[in-house]
Amino acid sequence: MWLTDTGGRRYLDCVQGIATNALGHAHPKLIKALVEQAKKVWHVANIFQIPGQEELGRCLTDSCFADLAFFANTGSEAVETALKMARKYHAVAGQPERVDIIGFAGSFHGRTYAAINASGNPAYLDGFGPRLPGYVQLSLSDEAGLADAIARPTTAAVIVEPVQGEGGARALSGEWLLELRKMTREHGVLLIYDEVQCGMGRTGKLFAHQWFEGAEPDIMAIAKALGSGFPVGACLATDDAARGMTVGTHGTTFGGNPLAMAVALTAFEEISCTDTLANAQGAAGNFVERLETLRANYPDVIAEIRGKGLLIGLKLIPGNREFMALARNHGLLVAGGGENCVRLLPSLLITTVEVGEVMERLEAACEDARQIIKEIVR
Ligand SMILES: Cc1ncc(COP(=O)(O)O)c(C=O)c1O
Repeated sequence: MWLTDTGGRRYLDCVQGIATNALGHAHPKLIKALVEQAKKVWHVANIFQIPGQEELGRCLTDSCFADLAFFANTGSEAVETALKMARKYHAVAGQPERVDIIGFAGSFHGRTYAAINASGNPAYLDGFGPRLPGYVQLSLSDEAGLADAIARPTTAAVIVEPVQGEGGARALSGEWLLELRKMTREHGVLLIYDEVQCGMGRTGKLFAHQWFEGAEPDIMAIAKALGSGFPVGACLATDDAARGMTVGTHGTTFGGNPLAMAVALTAFEEISCTDTLANAQGAAGNFVERLETLRANYPDVIAEIRGKGLLIGLKLIPGNREFMALARNHGLLVAGGGENCVRLLPSLLITTVEVGEVMERLEAACEDARQIIKEIVR
């Protein structure tokens, strides 16, 4: 949970590489896996069989809806794979006109061209030319617009984060996801979940959508905690959704190399074990209770507590950037987020004592923010 800066100051890290180091820093098992693999083979490319890929692919597909896994290096690449797969699915079925990807306001899917076009924040596109054709943006509350868009004969897929991360820790309800699943199925439209941030134990289940039985997607992008700090992403899919992705349609040089697989396999074992997920759920409950009390004590600083599991958002009244600096002064690192939120994204292994320490530092930052607000008002 701790980071020490170059000047020797210690910080409680609730950024964790932006929800990436699910097991914190310097986890001994991850270090061992990386060092042992580093003494063997690093990279051979996917033209050769890589046993670690097969093993991790099996672990992942055994734990969710998917039949297949494609390994990449980042979340953006996993999303690109998902989007290409969705269009190809319709193309091989003789419906090449089905190209539209429906995304939502406040979403974030990465920084590559397809990902910024699918993302729901126009700022990411700024200066990079017009939005590409084939990307439709809707508000999460526009139910009629969504039903209409899904029914269009040019729609290929819907992409959604079950818990929006960068957009400010906004958790979608099970009811909303189940309705989306029903509508997409009725119209032969593929459902893509972007669980790059909310997946791999972050919400206290291995995957965030697994809180809601029946809400399984056709395709899912994951990354971040998959390598718990080592760069690796994956696109998981059903056999049917991946039917167009035959040999030669997609590829990668580095994706899924032996180093990444060694670390990700160990991370998978640690994250998916019952104790880790139970700890994440327990810590999340502890946080929410204590954060609600903090909000009640500082209504002039905290407007709302939101999120799911250990993807926690505090919607603030003072500017989130300023608040992040105040927290840092008290030795606490928190991440920013949309809608003037700060996010708490601690290790899934956070202890009850550490939750208490985070709360103490947050309270000190709230007190500072209150004094600053009072000064401004005066
Ligand atoms: C939900 C989501 N999708 C995709 C990405 C992009 O991942 P990467 O930065 O690894 O390309 C991110 C990164 O923050 C994300 O939060």
